[in-house]
Order: sequence, then structure tokens, then C-alpha cells
Amino acid sequence: MNTNLVDVRNVTKDFHNGRITVEALRGLDLAVHEGDFLAIVGPSGSGKTTLLNLIGALDVATSGDVLIFGQDLAALNRRERAELRLMSLGFVFQAYNLIPVLTALENVKFVLELQGVDGGRHERAMSTLEDLSLGELANRRPNEMSGGQQQRVAVARAIVSRPRLVLADEPTANLDSENSEALLRMMRGLRDKHGMTFVFSTHDPLVMAHATRVVTLLDGRVVSDEVKSAGTVTGSTN
Ligand SMILES: Nc1ncnc2c1ncn2[C@@H]1O[C@H](COP(=O)(O)OP(=O)(O)O)[C@@H](O)[C@H]1O
Ligand SMILES: [Mg+2]
Repeated sequence: MNTNLVDVRNVTKDFHNGRITVEALRGLDLAVHEGDFLAIVGPSGSGKTTLLNLIGALDVATSGDVLIFGQDLAALNRRERAELRLMSLGFVFQAYNLIPVLTALENVKFVLELQGVDGGRHERAMSTLEDLSLGELANRRPNEMSGGQQQRVAVARAIVSRPRLVLADEPTANLDSENSEALLRMMRGLRDKHGMTFVFSTHDPLVMAHATRVVTLLDGRVVSDEVKSAGTVTGSTN
């Protein structure tokens, strides 16, 4: 399969703060391939979040091209970008962003409702929770779960519809090393089992160990791109 899932071509992104312009991305190129489990690393301020927001069609580049599944994002209007996000992308953020009044199960089902999935919503949401060892927490609200559990629910919500591409911005930032490890093994297992593609930013060396590819940013550019392994099933049951 030669089509890139994502093509970022010579992209710049400027932010204007009063009279100061911050050049967050300065001519960045990146191709993401189907099945990548790609870690984006780099110091704070190097442009990781900005890049994920552009790939996720949450923000628009100042110059250059961003193509998702071969589709140039600049050609889409707001509604079309929202449609792309809803139907084809999964998001996991540093803050879990669960809906506080909904249970774990309802948070996950909500995505399928928004997507207009007709039948089997309950079963699909429940089996996704069970895959992530969250079956017993299905009826808990976010404030009745630990940080690690909430983050796993956020992952369940991101993957319940099996999006082609999951974007995660420092998904382990609020987790201890044991929970980080478990979350990463679980995401890696989904990639190995279902061929889903993951792009995530991280500071955490433990997290990088699970990546098939590590891209390093510095001052809004890619300074290294290291393929670590084609990656096979890890044997994780998590
Ligand atoms: N909304 C914004 N307004 C102004 N500056 C921003 C905004 N978002 C990011 N920046 C700046 O862009 C640069 C890259 O930020 P970011 O992408 O958040 O880096 P990282 O995620 O690698 O820490 C930083 O200098 C940051 O201060
Ligand atoms: Mg960031």
C-alpha cells in the first residue's frame, strides 16, 4: 500500500500574539504510513501539539499542504473538516475530556450516536470497554474512576468506531509509569491486531520504546526520523 495516510508538505504555522509572531512550524515535512505507530518527540515548544492539531483538521496551516487520506484539507470547509474528524479520526488528549455526566459506557456510545450508527451501539461500546479491561467500570462516571482508568475510557472512545487514524497528544502525561506502560501496550496491541495507525506525541522515553518509528521535532522542523521496527504482535493481552 503506497498511499500515505497523511502527507504534511512544507508546512508553516504562525501564531500572532499581539505584535509578536511565533513560528511554531517552519517548513515541516512528514509522511505517515498505514500501520505506523509513530511517536513525535521533541522539547516543549518544538511544535508537537501544533502538528497534531493540523493533522487532526482542528487547525489550518499558514502555508504548505496537509493531506489526510489523500484529501487536501485546504479544500474542505469547516463542516467537511468536522465530518472527517468524526468519521475517520480518533483523538486522545492529555486531559481526558470525558463528558462528566455520562458513564464510561455512555461516553463511548456517544461517538457512535454522533456518527449515526444504527444498530449494535451498546454491544460495540461494551466490547470495546471489555477489550481495554474496563467492562466492570462501564457504569461509572469519570469522577468515580482513577486517572489511568479515565484515560483508558478516552482511548476506548477514540477507537470504538475503528478510525483509520488515531491522534494522541501526550496521552500518558498524567499517568504513572505503570499506567503509561499499560496504555501504550494496549494501543500498540490495537495497531498490531487491527492495523490501525497511531500518531502520538510524548516526552516519555518509556513510551518511545513501543513506537515503530520516532520523529524528533526541534524548532518546528523534523530533525530526525528513525524507523525502529516493522512491528509484530507483541503478545500483550492488555
Ligand atoms: N494558540 C497559540 N497562540 C500562540 N502561540 C502558540 C499557540 N499554540 C502554540 N503556540 C506556540 O507555538 C510553539 C509550539 O507550541 P506547541 O505546538 O504547543 O509545542 P509542543 O507541543 O511541542 O510543546 C510554542 O512556542 C508555543 O508557545
Ligand atoms: Mg504539546
